[in-house]
Amino acid sequence: MDSKDDVTLNSKEVQAESKDKEVSAPRDIETPDEMEEDNKKRHLNVVFIGHVDAGKSTTGGQILFLSGQVDDRTIQKYEKEAKDKSRESWYMAYIMDTNEEERVKGKTVEVGRAHFETETTRFTILDAPGHKSYVPNMISGASQADIGVLVISARKGEFETGYERGGQTREHVQLAKTLGVSKLLVVVNKMDEPTVNWSKERYDEIELKMTPFLKSSGYNVKKDVQFLPISGLLGTNMKSRMDKSVCSWWNGPCLFEALDAIEVPLRDPKGPFRMPIIDKFKDMGTVVMGKVESGSVTEGDSLLVMPNKIQVKVVAVYCDENKVRRAGPGENLRVRLSGIDDEDILAGFVLSSVAKPIAAVTEFVAQLQILELLDNAIFTAGYKAVLHIHSVVEECEIVELLQQIDPKTKKPMKKKVLFVKNGAVVVCRIQVNNMICIEKFADFPQLGRFTLRTEGKTVAVGKVTELPSVSS
Ligand code: GTP
Ligand code: MG
Repeated sequence: MDSKDDVTLNSKEVQAESKDKEVSAPRDIETPDEMEEDNKKRHLNVVFIGHVDAGKSTTGGQILFLSGQVDDRTIQKYEKEAKDKSRESWYMAYIMDTNEEERVKGKTVEVGRAHFETETTRFTILDAPGHKSYVPNMISGASQADIGVLVISARKGEFETGYERGGQTREHVQLAKTLGVSKLLVVVNKMDEPTVNWSKERYDEIELKMTPFLKSSGYNVKKDVQFLPISGLLGTNMKSRMDKSVCSWWNGPCLFEALDAIEVPLRDPKGPFRMPIIDKFKDMGTVVMGKVESGSVTEGDSLLVMPNKIQVKVVAVYCDENKVRRAGPGENLRVRLSGIDDEDILAGFVLSSVAKPIAAVTEFVAQLQILELLDNAIFTAGYKAVLHIHSVVEECEIVELLQQIDPKTKKPMKKKVLFVKNGAVVVCRIQVNNMICIEKFADFPQLGRFTLRTEGKTVAVGKVTELPSVSS
């Protein structure tokens, strides 16, 4: 049985937690030689996104199984546990869904985090929840990612529900683009399912419908998007190419190959240091977690915690589970600091270079694209929403609409603008109550793009275009 309706979930936008759960067992601390070897491989963060029940956790779990991180005995244990919960087919998802609530409901809640390697790349998997109540957690996962795997269910009716207005296939794609996920692998999943049975017609139908939508969301479909068919549950076309006896018409790569071959622009390791803090805890000092968006950090560095401008010293740096001396952009880190109490740090603060600290503001100018306002609402000065920008979640108010942009010519329209509706592109001034640390999109795209949400729905996506000149 499908479980779409048997969940009662609540969403509290501002208080929504965006915690991650570490899935794979910590590796032993490696010797320096092995570290060297390891660091030769590039590192990519990949977020699994898509509608509820598309098979994100199943596919993520299967990846861990195929890369030898989960043994047969564990799988058997999960099979039994899943059966006891009347969720027989969910056993692969249990690898990623480690909380009891997630296992009982068959729904991911917190972003699952795990690691695996291919020939060329070390990957961190971020398994986002698909359910609409947990979009804030998905946003937090996507904001840490370089590339995305968009999982689509090919099962009869399931592709359709995900793709409908209000379905999370659409919402996740738009959010991923805004949050800086530059490339997408679109995996058409559940190809083994009886209503699909590796049908080329069904695969083509999905690719045909998704393509214009991906284009309209800002992806260059030729350069940035690749489709491929898989079965996450059976592990087909994942680690190795599939046999013609399974699927005669597919001549393309398998998932591991496609992941291996994805190219993303390298970030500048010499830029000013920026690491938005997603979480903190006490452990022989104060440890902060986050992804480096610019620059590098070395043990012993002096840095600033912004916006409260507290100078701190870097005592230790951990990359995944390994202690490292130095780490560069794109890495997900835990950084142990001295000189600050953990109570003086909040999620959304930014660990920043002392010489070129990040701006701290309560007001900025942004270009917004309005996606879908709640029933009959108009977007005007005084509109209130929740701003999500890197790891910041903050209530905000639109204080002034400055210009409307003509979507065709991309030029400002002459007419004075007092309100806009769905689909409009508008430049406006936005205020928040507390200081937040952000950047102009043109300077640091990952720290300058955001979403506005109200009552559990994404109403707009935007880019920061101007910051006040005297800002910190
Ligand atoms: P959320 O985390 O709630 O968004 O769902 P999800 O996308 O992680 O889906 P999950 O992996 O939990 O799988 C949902 C259901 O789809 C389970 O019953 C899976 O067994 C089933 N499923 C996933 N992948 C496949 C597949 O390749 N083939 C078949 N037949 N079923 C699959
Ligand atoms: Mg899941």
